[in-house]
Amino acid sequence: MNTPSPLSEAGEFRLECIGVRQETHVAKTYLFAHPAGQFRFNPGQFLNFVFEIDGEEHIRSYSLSSSALNAENVSVTVKRVQGGRVSNWLFEHMRPGLQVRASGPMGQFSCGLEPETPLLLLTAGSGITPAASMLQSLADKASTCDVLLVHFASSAQDMIFREHMRRWVEALPGLRIVPVVTRHIPGAGWIGPVARLSSDLLRALAPDVAQRHVYCCGPGGFMDLATLMLKQMGHPPDGVFIESFESAREDDNIGSAAEAGSAQFTVTFAKAGLTASVDAETTVLKAAKVAGARIQTSCGKGVCGTCRVRMLSGTVEMKHQGGIRQREIDQGFILACCSRPTSDVVIEK
Ligand code: FES
Repeated sequence: MNTPSPLSEAGEFRLECIGVRQETHVAKTYLFAHPAGQFRFNPGQFLNFVFEIDGEEHIRSYSLSSSALNAENVSVTVKRVQGGRVSNWLFEHMRPGLQVRASGPMGQFSCGLEPETPLLLLTAGSGITPAASMLQSLADKASTCDVLLVHFASSAQDMIFREHMRRWVEALPGLRIVPVVTRHIPGAGWIGPVARLSSDLLRALAPDVAQRHVYCCGPGGFMDLATLMLKQMGHPPDGVFIESFESAREDDNIGSAAEAGSAQFTVTFAKAGLTASVDAETTVLKAAKVAGARIQTSCGKGVCGTCRVRMLSGTVEMKHQGGIRQREIDQGFILACCSRPTSDVVIEK
């Protein structure tokens, strides 16, 4: 596999919406013009967006769904989720002329522009968006790479990029697409497979799966199952790449655990003047919640970089997944969601 080219600096910029395209009854693609007119990213990467809604800032990470070879415009494709503040606001209010703040690109989930190893893109729901960027980029590059896209949607009407799939197949001689629905709806006109992800299905669709690099994106349960199955099928783990933006669930028991006497370290939030006593298993992000300090968060897994904070003193064990650069670590920054204290810690916040 080619190593993706160096990532751009993750400074903040403004994007102007120049188009909105309805993809399904609950998903839209938002097309943005980049102010500099030149935007470089690797297919599969994401941007962090800051949305100001009713005077409140909300940060969300969205994978780019457009071609990495289109330097002028970028797009993201977002499915509205029930109760989702930002996805519903976007669906109802985003229109050409509106501007949003963004930063990035970020993330290591990329097949690059010239993959040398056959690919399996295994996606579900809106997890198809980074795969769309990969396929559109490969199409624009006239790639002959062997690619298999297996995409799961709950029903035919929920299948994002159904129209694009035909175009990708026409443009990419090495591409095979297997769209699968998990629910049969009588009268929906679906003639493809109706199934759930299983090792039998995967073996039938991709008997050579062990020879492919697998890029997997979808809901957490889907990816957990996929990675477990691939492991059981003997797929080398260094050939499996996953992407998830499911928000971390906060553990409501943390405060009481600390109060019960298991506290080992003090995490202080200097500017807020707040402190929490937590054990060594508690992340700085959770310590902030216990203390009442506010840290923006998105992926909760050390991927997106949203929760980056400066540590003024102390030490932590940080297990990130590419959401922070070594240069930032050298400058004293940590990702709060995946850093656990190994001493008393003072955070600038
Ligand atoms: S919230 Fe994404 S890296 Fe911490």
